[in-house]
Amino acid sequence: MFALSEDDLQKRLLGCGDGPACFNAQLTQRGGNVISVDPVYQFSSEQIRSRIEEVYPQIMSQMEQNADSYIWESIKDVAELGKVRMAAMQRFLSDYDSGLEAGRYISASLPNLPFQDQQFELALCSHFLFLYSEHFDLEQHIQGMKELCRAAAEVRVYPLLSLDSKPSKHLSAVIEALEAAGIRTSLQTVDYRFQRGATDMLIAHAV
Ligand SMILES: C[S@@+](CC[C@H](N)C(=O)[O-])C[C@H]1O[C@@H](n2cnc3c(N)ncnc32)[C@H](O)[C@@H]1O
Repeated sequence: MFALSEDDLQKRLLGCGDGPACFNAQLTQRGGNVISVDPVYQFSSEQIRSRIEEVYPQIMSQMEQNADSYIWESIKDVAELGKVRMAAMQRFLSDYDSGLEAGRYISASLPNLPFQDQQFELALCSHFLFLYSEHFDLEQHIQGMKELCRAAAEVRVYPLLSLDSKPSKHLSAVIEALEAAGIRTSLQTVDYRFQRGATDMLIAHAV
């Protein structure tokens, strides 16, 4: 979903809104350099585990109801999706305590990240900005993107659709605000396909 090259995977990476997913665990295991931020990291592994178990049936039933909004190719149905997601969360949970200790998981929220200017070469943000366009207003999106561009030389965001699978109502105004602040932006089509119509990522270059 981010068209990551081998070169990208060698960079100092920030994952924003990474939640209980396993990108950090996997990249760290293969020798990468990544820090994840998410407000959920204020909780212990036991608290996160029990929250996952609590919301899992509800999320799966929502996926069943909205199954037509997704392309069932590499994952063939909702049951398989459940297994894939649970395996990723288990991988996250088994890495979480050591990652907290190493400072790879940091509890923080946009629009305020506890990092120095340009501390990272590349920031990735998946399934948070733009997807939750009804929950976060335009100003929060602009401030969030500017903060990511302060912390990283390049920022990639995917998807650019909101939860109703329509293009985010904030996208064009966010791009305009970033360009006005001297941040170059572009849209790039990526290979990943799951949410119908989610074909592009936004790239923002702070420097
Ligand atoms: C749908 S999850 C996406 C998790 C992961 N990126 C993925 O694609 O599987 C959205 C994540 O955004 C996090 N989040 C919510 N508000 C945030 C904020 N203000 N700053 C950063 N992350 C936030 C949530 O805690 C949650 O883990």
